[in-house]
Parts: sequence; structure tokens; C-alpha cells
Amino acid sequence: MQATALTLGLVGVDAHLVSVEVDSGRGPSAFHLVGLAEAAVREARVRVRAALKQLEVELDEHVITVSMSPADVRKTGSAFDVALALGILGALDRVDPANLAGVVLLGELGLGGQLRPVRGVLPALATARRLGVTRAIVPVDNEAEASAVTGVDVLVASTLEDVVLGLRGERALRPAKMPGASGGGAGCFAVDLAEIRGQHGARRALEIAAAGGHNLLMMGPPGAGKTMLARRLPTILPLMTQEEALEVTAIHSVAGLLGAGAGLLADRPFRAPHHTVSVAGLVGGGSPVRPGEVSLAHCGCLFLDELLEFGRATVEALRQPLEDGVIAVSRARERAVFPARPLVVAALNPCPCGYAGTLRCTCPPDRVRSYRQRLSGPLLDRIDLQIALPPVEIADLSFAAATGEPSAVVRERVVQARAAQAARASSGEVGARLNATLGAADLARVASPDAAAERVLRTAAEALGLSARAFGKVLRVARTLADLEGATGVGAPHVAEALHLRLLDRVRAPVAQSATVG
Ligand SMILES: Nc1ncnc2c1ncn2[C@@H]1O[C@H](COP(=O)(O)OP(=O)(O)OP(=O)(O)O)[C@@H](O)[C@H]1O
Ligand SMILES: [Mg+2]
Ligand SMILES: [Zn+2]
Repeated sequence: MQATALTLGLVGVDAHLVSVEVDSGRGPSAFHLVGLAEAAVREARVRVRAALKQLEVELDEHVITVSMSPADVRKTGSAFDVALALGILGALDRVDPANLAGVVLLGELGLGGQLRPVRGVLPALATARRLGVTRAIVPVDNEAEASAVTGVDVLVASTLEDVVLGLRGERALRPAKMPGASGGGAGCFAVDLAEIRGQHGARRALEIAAAGGHNLLMMGPPGAGKTMLARRLPTILPLMTQEEALEVTAIHSVAGLLGAGAGLLADRPFRAPHHTVSVAGLVGGGSPVRPGEVSLAHCGCLFLDELLEFGRATVEALRQPLEDGVIAVSRARERAVFPARPLVVAALNPCPCGYAGTLRCTCPPDRVRSYRQRLSGPLLDRIDLQIALPPVEIADLSFAAATGEPSAVVRERVVQARAAQAARASSGEVGARLNATLGAADLARVASPDAAAERVLRTAAEALGLSARAFGKVLRVARTLADLEGATGVGAPHVAEALHLRLLDRVRAPVAQSATVG
């Protein structure tokens, strides 16, 4: 007898339909699996055999042949177990093969027949819906993320027996439903900008970064609050749209980072990979292909603490995703594409000892120079804002000192500034939704400085030896400053502040006129 069960295979944050065709016949026990199944799938035979035994289905004296199609796509992971088991049950006539039609089955089997959660359920079901599949059964531990997909009737099951009886219509399976909001919910964060005392310049830079989508570099002594500030960037960004939440959740689901019971992620991610992270860990890779930190930080913040400690190759690998907003990871026969559009915040000390600019610094001037000279190249090119943090004043840290504005207030201004940018994009005036990604022609249209601003820019350019590229960055940031103010044009104060936010042009200009950064 023959039967076919349906399941889904992941490719990056996409999926494709996999049909599991099973043929059974009498003969000396054998279990063949064809169709580019990788080791993890071949191991499924052991789990499926054991789980079927729990249902008192013995495969002895049967020749089972399983063919998974499309045959030219690599099958990885353990999510095919349930479909495999049901295909076999269909072929053995323990389940009517007609009951398997049009239902997608996802789940790993435990040896005792329990259904274990699998990664990528959200993007897999989203694909199923696109392909016109309307019914699915998933493990109960994937319920929350499965419920985020609309347009597919998803039922949850705890055991293989549930699935069998459910398909036979002898046991009613529960539809997947959203659990009560886990954690704080959208807009409730564990940290808040109000906790940061002093550091007005850095708070302002963080707001500008959020408003225009500009990457930010912070240079400051130990304990100045660099990590604290970066951590609070996601709290001043606009709350995620449903579409963004689905994208971010899909990436975390594929990475296997959604805890059991976690539904749609409400908060923008914050990722802070250690500087020893591998290239694959940062931009994606491995087998099966998983998203890297730059994708896990999509829509949120990627924090590179101690930037100079990161290997050159590692930093170099970030260039392409930061340029394109997506990363393609290729392996033999497998090419996965992951979104990768985080805001990058980098931090470093001003010198090897950490205290340059204060009496505590013990570094000879040429060591400070060569330390800072290491700061160049591809990544810096993508960083529009560069600031220096002073040491926190003791007075600022006293509890009597006023706390700053809370995140919600700052976020309101960020939302306004982004609305102005979105309006220009949707009217077709510019081709980018955020000022940080405006092209040269767009810049000329919407960020051309008025006469006074032009004079400021020219004077600074001569004094600092600004490159044409740096010019563009100054204007992009100036445009964001105007948007934060609700101003239509770019004026002298905007340009002056934007120039001030390019620390490295200033600290490096006296070192070498040709060494302009960015
Ligand atoms: N501006 C600030 N307001 C309130 N507390 C602060 C501030 N800056 C630092 N702190 C306190 O000092 C601690 C260290 O700050 P943080 O780790 O952010 O510093 P850092 O600049 O990242 O230092 P390092 O260079 O050592 O990584 C924080 O946990 C916080 O308690
Ligand atoms: Mg730190
Ligand atoms: Zn020093």
C-alpha cells in the first residue's frame, strides 16, 4: 500500500512543501529513505520505529520505502518525524490515506511517542498559507508561535496518538491559540532611558540614531555608561509593526531561540555578541544554516562592545549585510536568505588604558594615535554618528541628581521624525524610508543646506579635510536633526550639530589630512 503525508522543510526564513511518500510491502524488515535526507532525518527512523511501537505498530516483516520530494532539496532537522510516522501508518492502512490529504504535519517524535517542538514553525506555516495549505498539526510546545499565523487552521497535539486519533476524527484536537501576553508586552521594557544620569550628549546621539536609522559609535572611558546606553536603544525605537514582529519572530524561531510558549516577539531585539564571535556566528552559517547575530538583531540593535577587539575578518563580514539589509548564506545545495537590518552601536575606549583625555591616562601619545588609527575601514564607513562620552560626573550619579527623560517620551519624538521620513518615501520624493539610507540624488533633493548652512559646511570641510563621502553623511544626519525639529529645510544649526557628531573626523584630522573617515 502507499500513502503520502505532507510536511514543510525550512530554507532560511522560507519553507517549502515536502511530501513524504511511503510504500509498504511484506518481506524481511527493511526501512529505506530516499530523497536527499541528511543524517538527522535518517536518524528519524529510530525515533519513528520506537514511537510506532507505543501504538503497537511493529515494522518487523515490513519493507518500508520512504521517498521525500522534491528530491533535489536537502532535508535537514527533525521536524519531519510526525509526517514520516503518519505516512507509514497510512501505508499500513492504520490511518485512511485520504485523511492525510491537505494537512501539514510538523514535529519531532520522542521515543515514547510524545511530540517535541521544532524550530521554524512560524515561517513554515506562513509558507504553507502562501501555498494554499489550510490545515496543520503542530506540537503543543509550538502552539504560541503557530497561533500567530492567520489563515491556517492549526491544531495542537501532545503525542503521536493524538495526531492519529485526530486525523481519524476520533479525538478532537485543540486549535492553537495565543497565550496571555508573556512578559511586559509591547512598550513595557525591563530598562528605561530615564535610568541614565547625565550623558546628555550621548542621550541626544541615541535619539538621533533611532530617529534616522543612523549607526552610532561611542568612545568613552570604562564605566561611562556605553553598555547601559546601547541597551536602551530598542526602548526608544517605534514599537514594532505586526509585520516587523512576524519577521523578527520568524528569525528567532529558525534559530531555535523561541522558548516553549513564546508567541510573537513584541520587543525589538538587542544582541551583543562577544568580540570572539565567529564569522558564521555573526552573519549566519552552520549546518543546517542558522541566522547569525546580525539577523537576530534585525529591527533592533546590534551592539559591538570593544569594537577594536573584533577580528578584521569578522568586521569585514558585516559590510555586505549592513549595505544590503539582507544576508545570503550559501552551502552546497542550500542557499538561505535572512533579513539583516539592525541599528549598529559600537563602543570602545578612547585609548589602550581607557582614560585618554583625563589625568589618569598613562598612554604615550603615539600609542593613542596608533590605537585610534586601527579604527578605519569598512565598518566605520557605515557609522554616521561618532561621539565621545565624558566620564560620569560623581554629581550626576548622586540620587539627588535629576533623572533624564523616560524612553516613552523620547520614543514619541522618534516616531514623529520617522513619520516625516516615511511621508517623503511614500510620496515618491525619496527612495528610502530612513535618512541613513538616502541615496545621493535623494540627498540633493531633500537635504540641501540653505546658504548659511552651506557656509558652515564649507568652513568645516576645509578645516577637517572632509571627503565627499563624509559630506553626505553630515547631510543625512542634518536631515534627521531637521526632522526631529519638524523643520522642512536643513539649516546652519543642523549642519553644525551634525558636524559635531563626527568625532573621528575631528580627532583624526590633525593626524593625517588624508585619513578622513567615512
Ligand atoms: N550615566 C550613567 N547613569 C547611571 N548609571 C551609570 C551611568 N554610567 C554608568 N553607570 C553605572 O555604571 C555601571 C557601568 O556602566 P556601563 O557598563 O554602561 O559602562 P561602560 O561605559 O559600558 O563601561 P566599560 O567600558 O567598562 O564597558 C552601570 O551598570 C551603572 O550602574
Ligand atoms: Mg561596557
Ligand atoms: Zn590611556
